[in-house]
Amino acid sequence: MDHRPIGVFDSGLGGLTAVRRLACVLPNENIIYFGDTGRVPYGTRSRDTIIQYSTQDVNFLRTFDLKAIVIACGTVSAIALDTLTHPQSLPIFGVVEPTARRAAQTPRNGRIGIIATQATIRTGAYEQVIRRCRPEAKLFAKPCPLFVPLVENGRTQPGDIVIETVAAEYLEELKAQGVDTLILGCTHYPLLTDVIRNYMGPEVTLLDSGAEVADHLADYLRHHDLAAPADQTGCYRWYVSDSTESFHDLASIFLGREVTEPVEQIAIQNY
Ligand code: DGL
Repeated sequence: MDHRPIGVFDSGLGGLTAVRRLACVLPNENIIYFGDTGRVPYGTRSRDTIIQYSTQDVNFLRTFDLKAIVIACGTVSAIALDTLTHPQSLPIFGVVEPTARRAAQTPRNGRIGIIATQATIRTGAYEQVIRRCRPEAKLFAKPCPLFVPLVENGRTQPGDIVIETVAAEYLEELKAQGVDTLILGCTHYPLLTDVIRNYMGPEVTLLDSGAEVADHLADYLRHHDLAAPADQTGCYRWYVSDSTESFHDLASIFLGREVTEPVEQIAIQNY
């Protein structure tokens, strides 16, 4: 048993899709969330910048006495997991490995689509894990750079002509290839589940990378006897690097509940 909180971070608020699942599968855990809202998006930046930013994110979270860190960001998981894990004694979990493994195990025809940021797609990280587990799978990857800014601006609902037009343009090719499983390889994308499902059709299995890492962490904590006591009610602390003004409205959408806990702005460049 371990009372200490879990640190979670993302380039912005997309990582809250992982927190939403953590709240379901690990309701007793205390969570400290950092969203680098002042520097989002990461997915259009260089590898060196992503490593620099995510190192600062981890340094900030390490100022708390944590039991684990979740990289609730596909981009950082694909590019910087090894760098971030290397000097740390703390367990650090990324979204790529558990999501790609799940895709490989999905009992469909093995036509797997991967949508993510440009930086993630460039690494081929999801493909490497899937090929290891299921060499005969047919993989189709597509970067979707406009999804993150649209989601961060709350443009997520079916009927919104802007997001529907952008989604149709990005997904057309994957649909034509007949993918049966689609990895939402960026933690912002589960907010677009309805839009994506409407376009791809109900028969395509959508995999939520934030939910997959949350399930993976829950298994890890149970197997290592690190879960919080069952009588603890999970508390949440929120930190961002830009104005806190719209945090509560957006976080409430991402988490699917009204967020009332205070949020604090920090100067991430000092870490
Ligand atoms: N949620 C991040 C991810 O999973 C968004 C990346 C970005 O900031 O571009 O990749």
